[in-house]
Amino acid sequence: MHNYREIVKNVYYVGADDHKIDKFEGIIPLSRGVSYNSYLIKDKKNCLMDTVDQAVTRQFIENIDALLKGEKLDYLVVLHMEPDHCYNIEQVLLRHPETKVVGNEKTFTFISNFFPNLDLTDKKIVVKENDELDLGAHKLKFIFAPMVHWPEVMIAFEEKEGLLFSADAFGMFNTLDGNLYADNVDFDRDYLDEARRYYTNIVGKYGMQVVSLFKKVTDLKIKMILPLHGFIWRKNIEYILNKYTLWATYTSEVKSVLIIYASMYGDNACCANILANKLSMQNIKDIKVLDASMVDATFLVSESFKYSNIVIISPTYNMTIFPSIEIYLDDMLRMGLKNRTISLIENGSWAPNAKSLIKAKLDNSKLPFNFTETSLTIKSSLKEDDEQIVDKMVEEIKNSLND
Ligand code: FEO
Repeated sequence: MHNYREIVKNVYYVGADDHKIDKFEGIIPLSRGVSYNSYLIKDKKNCLMDTVDQAVTRQFIENIDALLKGEKLDYLVVLHMEPDHCYNIEQVLLRHPETKVVGNEKTFTFISNFFPNLDLTDKKIVVKENDELDLGAHKLKFIFAPMVHWPEVMIAFEEKEGLLFSADAFGMFNTLDGNLYADNVDFDRDYLDEARRYYTNIVGKYGMQVVSLFKKVTDLKIKMILPLHGFIWRKNIEYILNKYTLWATYTSEVKSVLIIYASMYGDNACCANILANKLSMQNIKDIKVLDASMVDATFLVSESFKYSNIVIISPTYNMTIFPSIEIYLDDMLRMGLKNRTISLIENGSWAPNAKSLIKAKLDNSKLPFNFTETSLTIKSSLKEDDEQIVDKMVEEIKNSLND
């Protein structure tokens, strides 16, 4: 049974929710699924905007069939060639041999990589930046968005209704569950964290490219943003644009402290909690304490983008950084996070060296970080004598928050 939705006259949502997926891209844990969005524009020329992942093929095909009712599908626009969106290109073309595929040079290179047996002779329309595709009442203008999130990515602007088909940009994890629009939910309370986790772990590394894309779309009269995952934005668009601007420029959302620790026998957990308590007594709000061994690194990266200050507490483990802390650091650096104030605490019962190894890792990344002058070495467990060092660290963090 079809389950499409009309968004504006003759423009339809034809995607679907995937509640069963455990790991996005085979690595990012999901507990509330994801949606694969696709849109169909009905006009003199019917046009499908991207396809969907294999997980929701059946619903997608039923939606298109119900809308076309035997009419031709004139165009399939491919904004992004990652398989969560392109998987059904072959399916669509098998059912609609009349369809022309619209993409750029790179799109077609990727199509032949993913679908080596797909013959697109006489079916290809290769567009360049700012080219337009006339559908009748609707016209699509193509704007290239390289590395948001792959090199072939482009977005499309439909001027009549002010629709921005934004590919992965403004996407997020979580199924839609019928809500479809961001203004149908309490986005800030219930969905922002997953939107941030999506951005920081999928596009995070490409902040510069996101900023470049924003410059290209700044003069467009955007009334609605239609991404390939997650909610459609039709109200309060500035809210999500502002969040994206912060994330893309590696600017923190909150001036507060994130404490990320690993603890083998509870001593570092104790230190994390004492530190959090002392920071809180200085009227610092929204402090967050996360155990790197219990919380997946994608959440740690996401929270690191949110917070201005990060305290890292690591055991020394076989003369190296503790594995869960090292995974977090590598992921965080891979995503290009910078401009944070870092405080380091290590623990080691006989030869502590995690602190210098973490510092070297961050320095070697060449990404700009500030470090508090105060750091701490715990010998097995926190002692009364360590308290003045912790207090000094708290004082420095507090001062840095007021800068
Ligand atoms: Fe949702 Fe980059 O694919």
